[in-house]
Amino acid sequence: MILHRWFAALAVLASAAAAFAAGDAARGAQAFRACSGCHSLAPGDHRTGPSLAGVFGRRAGTADGFGRYSEALRKSGMVWNAQALDGWLRDPAAFIAGNGMTFPGLPDARVRADLIAYLQAVSAGKIAAPKTPGLPDLRAADAGDRVSAIAHCGDTYRVTLGDGTRRAFWEFNLRFKTDSSAHGPRRGQPVIVGAGMGGDRAQVVFAEPAEISSFIRSHCE
Ligand code: HEC
Repeated sequence: MILHRWFAALAVLASAAAAFAAGDAARGAQAFRACSGCHSLAPGDHRTGPSLAGVFGRRAGTADGFGRYSEALRKSGMVWNAQALDGWLRDPAAFIAGNGMTFPGLPDARVRADLIAYLQAVSAGKIAAPKTPGLPDLRAADAGDRVSAIAHCGDTYRVTLGDGTRRAFWEFNLRFKTDSSAHGPRRGQPVIVGAGMGGDRAQVVFAEPAEISSFIRSHCE
């Protein structure tokens, strides 16, 4: 009887191991769509979350050059093997309390196994990292997307573009951002993004924060 139970337990363990092993990397590549809004698999390409290049077998919180890790993740002492990734991807908030990955988790064990197989295969160089949609190259913006002046009056921003056109925005609908990367705008040449015709909202992207207030003039005509 005891022996019987022991065998039963062994069988359960074996099938759990099989479930890990059975992860299908090709299906995992599809499942990675749930991640690619925040993560790239290209080395050094950090987005909202760190690049996941080489994540399999790496210590948590150590991707080179990612400056936004939570203390909780950095101090977790976790190493990203299949078991740790399974727990993390099932319910990140429960797995490492106080971490900064705002992702609800994947309840389906099968999907997690597929994803883990995929991350492992990419980390091992068996599958090439997919191209993450590139960020727009703001250095190459047309004159019509370059901003030459911004005036603020009342509740309105008036934006003058490099081709001479002017657009007015309700101040609540214009956002100011910075992009200090190699794709970002040149200094002193902010670029307007998402201001397509009919769009009532847009963003102006600057090379660095100090430019923002120096560029905007309080001025009514
Ligand atoms: C909404 C954005 C977002 C989504 C979606 C997301 N992540 Fe994350 N992820 C993050 C952030 C931010 C961190 C860093 C968390 C911290 O420092 O606490 C992170 C951290 C990680 C880490 C730890 C990396 C390290 O270097 O220690 C792994 C592994 C990971 N995510 C895998 C995934 C996978 C796989 C998916 C898809 C199922 C996913 N993430 C979906 C934002 C996201």
